[in-house]
Amino acid sequence: MQSTPFRTPSPRVAVIGAGAMALALAAGLAGGDPPLRIGAVLARRPPAAPAFDGMAVCADAAGLLAWGPDLVVECAGHGAMRDLVPACLAAGVDCIIASVGALAEPAVLADVRAAAERGRARLVVPAGALGGLDALAAARLAGLTAVTYRGSKPPAAWKGTPAEEACDLDALERPAIVFEGSAAEAAARFPRNANVTAALALAGLGPEATRVTLVADPGLVANTHRIEAEGAFGRFVFETENRALPDNPRTSLLAALSLQHAVLNHVAPLIP
Ligand SMILES: NC(=O)c1ccc[n+]([C@@H]2O[C@H](COP(=O)([O-])OP(=O)(O)OC[C@H]3O[C@@H](n4cnc5c(N)ncnc54)[C@H](O)[C@@H]3O)[C@@H](O)[C@H]2O)c1
Repeated sequence: MQSTPFRTPSPRVAVIGAGAMALALAAGLAGGDPPLRIGAVLARRPPAAPAFDGMAVCADAAGLLAWGPDLVVECAGHGAMRDLVPACLAAGVDCIIASVGALAEPAVLADVRAAAERGRARLVVPAGALGGLDALAAARLAGLTAVTYRGSKPPAAWKGTPAEEACDLDALERPAIVFEGSAAEAAARFPRNANVTAALALAGLGPEATRVTLVADPGLVANTHRIEAEGAFGRFVFETENRALPDNPRTSLLAALSLQHAVLNHVAPLIP
């Protein structure tokens, strides 16, 4: 039998969306060792970037499924995750999602869970920009007593959010708390932050018991995420200071790398 670096000779990986995350994912996988080419993209219009050259372009979920993926990676947004991912799961195709914040809506979570059960497929929720969720999910198995998250960003990153009502973002000279509450409230009031708070809640204590503090900090140039967890396992603190993707200052490089790692985890025979 011919040797292959992957679990199947030619993994059929498709991506939904052709924005910054999809581009970083396609380029990262193609430039990896061994290289892995994404074969199809579901996009509203044919993408122009060279990273998408040679991919089949599909217009809807039916077209994507007709292409025959064994893995779909959603990189398009909360609406696309809600509308397209359940169909893929129900058809038996494993999915990795970037738009985890959509799962903060209990009806959406129930819908994808039911679709995955129906299709006997797996929905993978990567840690994204946060990191540390492998330890949190493992710790949960023996019982967690407290999970807190503190997300800090430069004041300009909070423009256009309810943080503008909590303080004068342009006049800040020291860090200011712009929100304190549950992960459920944080996801509803700060949808741009919902990916991290929803992923944390899913891996840990759930949306009501996970405590969230959001901070505008004029001393920062990068977004930072700090998770503290306590339980039967002991205690951990995990903090990341994230650089942005060159093409999209709203998206962190670690989030794109986390998707890339999740894809490799699916196709590679051995992965740390
Ligand atoms: N989990 C994390 O930590 C994390 C971090 C960053 C971004 N994200 C999420 O990843 C997603 C993508 O981020 P991005 O920076 O690439 O955004 P982006 O705006 O650069 O790209 C999104 C792309 O998806 C396309 N799209 C949207 N709806 C679509 C649909 N229904 N069908 C086909 N294409 C559709 C858009 O046209 C665009 O090309 C967002 O939901 C974002 O919130 C998650």
